Amino acid sequence: MVLATQKDITPTLEPNALRVLEKRYLRRDRTGSIIESPAQMFRRVAGFVASAERGYNPKADVDGVADEFYRVMASLEFLPNSPTLLNAGTEAGQLASCFVLPVPDSLEETFDAVKYTAMIHKSGGGIGFNVSHIRPTGSAVGEHLDAAGGPVALIHVFAGAADYIRQGGVRRGCNSVVMSVTHPDILHFISAKSNPNTLTNFYNSVSVTDEFMARVRSGEDYTLVAPNTGEPVGKLNAAEVFNRIVDQAWFTGDPGLVFIDRINRDNPTPELGRLETITGCGEQALLPYESCNLGSINLAAMLKIENGSLCIDYERLGQLVPVAVRFLDDVIDVNRFPIPLVEQITRKTRKIGLGVMGFADMLIRLGVPYNSTKAIGIAEELMEFISRRAREASHQLAQERGVFPAWSGSIYEKRGLPMRNAACTTIAPTGTISIIAGVSSGIEPIFAAVFVRNILDGENLLEINPYFERVARERGFYTRELIEQLVTSNHLHIRKEVPEDVRKVFVTAHRVSPDWHVRIQAAFQRHIDNAVSKTVNFPKSATREDIARVFMMAFEQGLKGITVYRDQSRDLQPLCTSEEG
Ligand code: CDP
Repeated sequence: MVLATQKDITPTLEPNALRVLEKRYLRRDRTGSIIESPAQMFRRVAGFVASAERGYNPKADVDGVADEFYRVMASLEFLPNSPTLLNAGTEAGQLASCFVLPVPDSLEETFDAVKYTAMIHKSGGGIGFNVSHIRPTGSAVGEHLDAAGGPVALIHVFAGAADYIRQGGVRRGCNSVVMSVTHPDILHFISAKSNPNTLTNFYNSVSVTDEFMARVRSGEDYTLVAPNTGEPVGKLNAAEVFNRIVDQAWFTGDPGLVFIDRINRDNPTPELGRLETITGCGEQALLPYESCNLGSINLAAMLKIENGSLCIDYERLGQLVPVAVRFLDDVIDVNRFPIPLVEQITRKTRKIGLGVMGFADMLIRLGVPYNSTKAIGIAEELMEFISRRAREASHQLAQERGVFPAWSGSIYEKRGLPMRNAACTTIAPTGTISIIAGVSSGIEPIFAAVFVRNILDGENLLEINPYFERVARERGFYTRELIEQLVTSNHLHIRKEVPEDVRKVFVTAHRVSPDWHVRIQAAFQRHIDNAVSKTVNFPKSATREDIARVFMMAFEQGLKGITVYRDQSRDLQPLCTSEEG
């Protein structure tokens, strides 16, 4: 497992990465003074996670494994999700990002879920809920007719609890809520966020079946079913409901769609139940109470020069993937789970979420525009390779450590393939860890070549894409004036002093047409066990028909879900620079 030759790599961090670490991640003493360097943080994480090895072999070379884990993190080739960086080796000890909580139709269990929500948020995780089992508004409760508050009112109860808590004292948790399109309250749910300033840390999605999508096409009605009685209670026209979803998504970007049959076709453990919802930012479909820890490979660091030109370093990638899989599997063993029910099911399936970040930066370095057939080819080839290696690594771990306990009855048992993890791959948003690595997030295109990033509670930081800066200086078009103008208007594509090939390669999220966003997402999804977190950007001028067409395209291309964002349709944007201003 030796990747780097130097034992003590010192992390080289961009100034913005350092600011994020100092503000949120590095440990502090009681007086609030920072007591560790970034290198010490990576050592803390590496040592703690590697201590899991002792559980399998008392004579394990824990220090050797810790060195390896340290090297892949300190070189910024691989980073685990934020809770692992924050909490490994600390009293909090909760290391996973993704959770799903069931919301049953019983007051007691529902308020248990509210309590669990607070506990999970406090520990740094985001949550996926499914409110489809809650009886419709106005249903009877015991002897009281017309008493039920309904699922949408309940989302506000969860939001209240979530608002009260700051994850690990540092950030607000992300949540996703899914409702089945057959729920009698579906229209209310679709418009639940018509005021975009409500439920701001909740993203709503409508769960649709293949049959519903077929009825949208044929314009037929479909049946609403009360979840508490199982009785049909009315009909709606599928196309009309679809158009309502489209209208609302055009207006505020919310709700999205979750293609639930597609998700369940990939369910690795159908004997444990159906997958009903997705996690906080959409990258995982998990069982009730299941959690998953994530980690992402920095693709921008996986390049090498061969015969004078830059290409993907598959050898290095092939060595890195097993280290990452081992790391994520070890995390499950040393994780301090916030709730015993979560621990039970997570240890049964042992799902891990290995993904990538810096995809757009990699393409830029290779000189390939994001919106090109070549980029699709690279996405397919890369993810196929990473997934295959991840499965091989999980299979190898199964030989060493045994299969995941729910393996019997899983799809892997049917294939005769021992596996340590019921799922290996996912694409996380990598919102913060990509800043730490100094690369583009997940598989998103770059937001802008130059922009002001609003990350730290109102603090704004100027960010110039390092490859843009290098190219601009090398090719002689770097001027202060250009940088200043690009900060205020994201108009690189019309700057005449920038050579055309550079403008094409530095294509930004808003200049990539929605169809290309979907194609790239689909290319990754084809090789991912779990789901892909991605936003499909639309210009402000996009029409409802544009959104409807892309929703259909997402379904046809086999995505598990889709999230759209029309420029300026929401007040709160994570990054600021005006595309059309
Ligand atoms: O980069 P980082 O590891 O911080 O997180 P991410 O990849 O952007 O998000 C991964 C998951 O963490 C999300 O799906 C959420 O479940 C959770 N998350 C959250 O709860 N709150 C946030 N503010 C950000 C992420």
